Amino acid sequence: MAEKRESIHGQWSSRWAFILAATGSAVGLGNIWKFPYITGENGGGAFVAVYLICILLIGIPIMMAEVMLGRRGRRSPINAMRHLASEEGASPHWKYLGWAGVIAGFLILSYYSVIAGWALAYIFRAASGSFVGVGAEGIGTMFGHFIGDPEALIAWHTLFMVMTMVVVARGVRGGLEAAVRFLMPGLFILLIVMVGYALNTGHFNEGLAFLFTPNFDKLTGNGLLIAMGHAFFTLSLGMGAIMVYGSYLPSKASITKTVVIIAAADTLVALLAGMAIFPIVFAYGLEPGSGPGLIFQTLPIAFGQMPGGVLFGTFFFILLLFAAWSSSISLVEPAVAWLIENHGMTRKSAAIWCGVITWFVGLGTVFSFNYLSGEEFRLFGKTFFDLLDFLTSNVMLPLGGLLIAVFSAWIMRPEDAREEMRMGYPKAFALWHFLVRYVTPIGVSVVFLRAIGAI
Ligand code: TRP
Repeated sequence: MAEKRESIHGQWSSRWAFILAATGSAVGLGNIWKFPYITGENGGGAFVAVYLICILLIGIPIMMAEVMLGRRGRRSPINAMRHLASEEGASPHWKYLGWAGVIAGFLILSYYSVIAGWALAYIFRAASGSFVGVGAEGIGTMFGHFIGDPEALIAWHTLFMVMTMVVVARGVRGGLEAAVRFLMPGLFILLIVMVGYALNTGHFNEGLAFLFTPNFDKLTGNGLLIAMGHAFFTLSLGMGAIMVYGSYLPSKASITKTVVIIAAADTLVALLAGMAIFPIVFAYGLEPGSGPGLIFQTLPIAFGQMPGGVLFGTFFFILLLFAAWSSSISLVEPAVAWLIENHGMTRKSAAIWCGVITWFVGLGTVFSFNYLSGEEFRLFGKTFFDLLDFLTSNVMLPLGGLLIAVFSAWIMRPEDAREEMRMGYPKAFALWHFLVRYVTPIGVSVVFLRAIGAI
């Protein structure tokens, strides 16, 4: 019966198209901008170790669950959850899990677009040679001036939001698939080139040691939560993005293999980004824990000094832009699919509505770096942007993931999950089921309790 199901929004042309699109969603600012700066802020190795463990034990099983639910539901996450809940004889309130995801997606995209706007701006700075021969101080001042100028930030944020909505409006196959097919391979190649440069800085081993030598004394309960939250963020989990992509997956494709490939590619990109960035950070005596500006304040120094830096710098920020672009489209896809299904909107008007709303919320992030950056505008020392990032990555996504695990392994009949998974080996299904039934919910809860100091 499940064989006949197909989403009204269409289907990927093949399993590989899904892999490309989901990898495009997973690999983004999270890998190249966020992973290095939160690793720097949380002391390196131990943080990376926890992040990798979370990818393996929580991320991969939840990603499989999301793809499975999406493909079985064959609708936007809100409708898929309602439909699956009724199929399983559970409460229709499960649709609110879809709703929470739509809201999380809007909130994340609102700041994602602002940061992607930085990358967009930096393409032009790199290409025009603005970094050439400028030292650490000059690069720092340049970044400070840039984020202190709300009009510029708004302009770049607007441009990125328009780019995102153009692709979203073109739809699953015309838009998402075509965009990603060209973006992903280029990204890998460019990162490897950057790691090649880092190898010649003379500080490669120091960078590696920072990333891979765990010192658990440096990791706080809050750092633990950030590492787990990032596992969700980087794999695009917990809000229905992968669920809605899964709803376009042909019935026959193997979920396990597909998900393992995506998670491996995502992790590889983050580690490559770390290996490209930290040797440069140490070579130029920069501060690993300098926050969200890390790559913008550090890499341009290297681009300004190395031979061919104009070219490398330009490529690097183009790469970052493309990675962000193929991720941002997945953040609104659950909302767009729902607007089309329930309100009979065209894809284009749904995209415009979503774009306008998130654009407005994004202004809060723009102002977090200038007008509203002062102490008097902070809550617990955090700006609007910090709060938004914390709320989404470290609260909403893990909670969403927890509920997805509970639904797939406690509410859904195991036969139904097994049927949709179509795994070759009964033991593989048993392992997945055990992980989502016990390991994931307990793991997420323990990290939450530890972060609030309860254990
Ligand atoms: N995973 C992307 C990144 O690392 C961001 C992203 C895209 C995302 N879609 C998502 C994060 C859905 C959470 C949920 O940059």
